[in-house]
Amino acid sequence: MRALVLAGGTGTRLRPLTHTSAKQMVPVANKPVLFYGLESIARAGIIDVGIVVGDTAAEIRAAVGDGSRFGLKVTYIPQHAPLGLAHAVLVARDFLGEEDFLMYLGDNFICGGITGLVEDFQVKRPDAHILLTRVADPGAFGVAELGPDGRVVGLEEKPERPRSDLAMVGVYLFTPAVHEAVRNIQPSRRGELEITHALQRLIDTGRRVDSTLIEDYWKDTGSVVDMLEVNRTVLESAEPRLDGLVDEHSEIIGRVVVEAGSQIRGSRIVGPVVIGADSRITGSYVGPFTSIGERCRLDDCEVEYSVVLPETRITGVRRIAASLIGRNVEVSPASHGPRTHRLVLGDHSTVQIAS
Ligand code: G1P
Repeated sequence: MRALVLAGGTGTRLRPLTHTSAKQMVPVANKPVLFYGLESIARAGIIDVGIVVGDTAAEIRAAVGDGSRFGLKVTYIPQHAPLGLAHAVLVARDFLGEEDFLMYLGDNFICGGITGLVEDFQVKRPDAHILLTRVADPGAFGVAELGPDGRVVGLEEKPERPRSDLAMVGVYLFTPAVHEAVRNIQPSRRGELEITHALQRLIDTGRRVDSTLIEDYWKDTGSVVDMLEVNRTVLESAEPRLDGLVDEHSEIIGRVVVEAGSQIRGSRIVGPVVIGADSRITGSYVGPFTSIGERCRLDDCEVEYSVVLPETRITGVRRIAASLIGRNVEVSPASHGPRTHRLVLGDHSTVQIAS
């Protein structure tokens, strides 16, 4: 069994961060979202992984390398343009050969792993197996309709009038039967070869597509709101650890990770919070569900329910909440004004805020 991880795409909903970085590399609890997927794949016992890459190939390659640190053997498969999930299967044809495979969207986050699903698929071996979860906004996803026996009878991609609230999660299991299907579908209205249409073709040609309804937490981390939610969920189970320096004028409450080389001085950190290596927090409050990246500096400020990427500097601002702040950003005060600020800042931004 092989795995195909999709790490191309443009990440429009995470702009401006995705102007300079791959959406799969945005960190959750200071670790790229893509790494959680690769770890789940390794835990499921799959070793040969093809990563489909686009414009951000260099960044993904630099971070993942040959995959050995995950216990994986990684092959990079270039996709010249983001022409759809089924197109990714087409370009990976040689890598996949005649083996069954797991397809995993690199910006999807699933708690609880996929080991049981992979094992179950290998035993039952339907032509394809999809994961579904109930969502409030099915029109934003691929939507499945199930028959009385639980088999998938129909699928639609982002329908205007969804026939169910069952959204397709970005994890799919396929036998080589899918190759015929991806070769015989047409681009959708958004100009992409949809995996949803390939699955529908399998059904239409009498193939068996099974599904599992997952209760575990799942999110597509494509948007800022979802990103913050995933960060919150991961931080909730962080193992507290204080490897950096915490001075006697500081207070650490709850699940807090302070990585080596960091210094917390005269500050109050209320977990769950993770503070990356070599950061300095002085005279500040860092509130629940916040990840501060490596080599950041926070002076005289308040931040909560936020994700701050490495090398960013925040000074004299209160209170930043529900914000995703890029790499190497500088936030500093302008004049007195309202007390909360909601920010989505790209890498290398400079912002002046009234506080
Ligand atoms: C893709 C699939 C969709 C699926 C979703 C899960 O959507 O096309 O069927 O529900 O991933 O994340 P996209 O992220 O390309 O909008």
